Amino acid sequence: MPAKIISGTEVAKQIREELKCEVADLKAKHNLIPGLATILLGDDPASKSYIAGKEKAALALGIYSERIDLPASTTEEQLLTLIKRLNNEPRIHGILVQVPLPGHIDETRVLYAIDPKKDADGFHPLNLGKLMIGDPDFIPCTPYGIQQLLIRSGIKTDGAEVVIVGRSNLVGKPIANILLQKKDGANATVTICHTGTKDIKSHTLQADILIVAAGKPNSVTADMVKEGAVVIDVGVNRVGKTADGKDILVGDVDYNKIKDKASFITPVPGGVGPMTITMLMVNTVKAAKLSIGLSN
Ligand code: GUN
Repeated sequence: MPAKIISGTEVAKQIREELKCEVADLKAKHNLIPGLATILLGDDPASKSYIAGKEKAALALGIYSERIDLPASTTEEQLLTLIKRLNNEPRIHGILVQVPLPGHIDETRVLYAIDPKKDADGFHPLNLGKLMIGDPDFIPCTPYGIQQLLIRSGIKTDGAEVVIVGRSNLVGKPIANILLQKKDGANATVTICHTGTKDIKSHTLQADILIVAAGKPNSVTADMVKEGAVVIDVGVNRVGKTADGKDILVGDVDYNKIKDKASFITPVPGGVGPMTITMLMVNTVKAAKLSIGLSN
């Protein structure tokens, strides 16, 4: 039977509807408008398009948005000075620095400089550490979005064999930490495969839930997938242009063949992608609430 398609676009819409009410409520009851600052260095087209999507989503929800586009030649000191200003800016509750950063900038130093209370991306080592021990404030947006897709699609993670392909700090490591917690929407047995794994297929074939964030098209083919598995494709690969100049996007898995074998699958585009931006909004609203002492 063909897989059910998990529409990230639809799930993201549901969450944004919920958030819109919450933002309106915060304004009415507490005179609080959540604020998000996004910082982009350089003009990488993919990064520019992500940042534009984040700004659009914020504005649609009634979140105040400050967008700061800087040249790729910006120095690390200039960027750190800007972050310091935003850390002290009361209208801003969430700060996002789009990565990857140009090579002359030490990414870790920049991520450390963001006030952990304003870390809407959840990339600060304090927040990643809190996630690891099961006491998170801010969860990185893409893995958080993946967990929401699973929960809201009724997919059981409790006791499931989850195999992750890719060990990045943005996706692979945090989603592993999320799904192995002894909590609802988690409690899975988690395996991470990476470039050092001897026989990736022997692991992926065991997966009830297969999460692929390898950064390369066709990293997972149909022969690597167990019949009835849930396949979450995190990849966004630009493989060409349409006649009218739009990017052609594909994920990391062989979607057309795997969709006849899996029970659920996420498409690219329209799967994990819309969730990332949505969870950034969730984190921004949470940061605003925490700033006035409201817990969730
Ligand atoms: N680059 C790719 N994904 C992300 C993300 O979720 N946040 C930031 N800051 N940069 C990214």
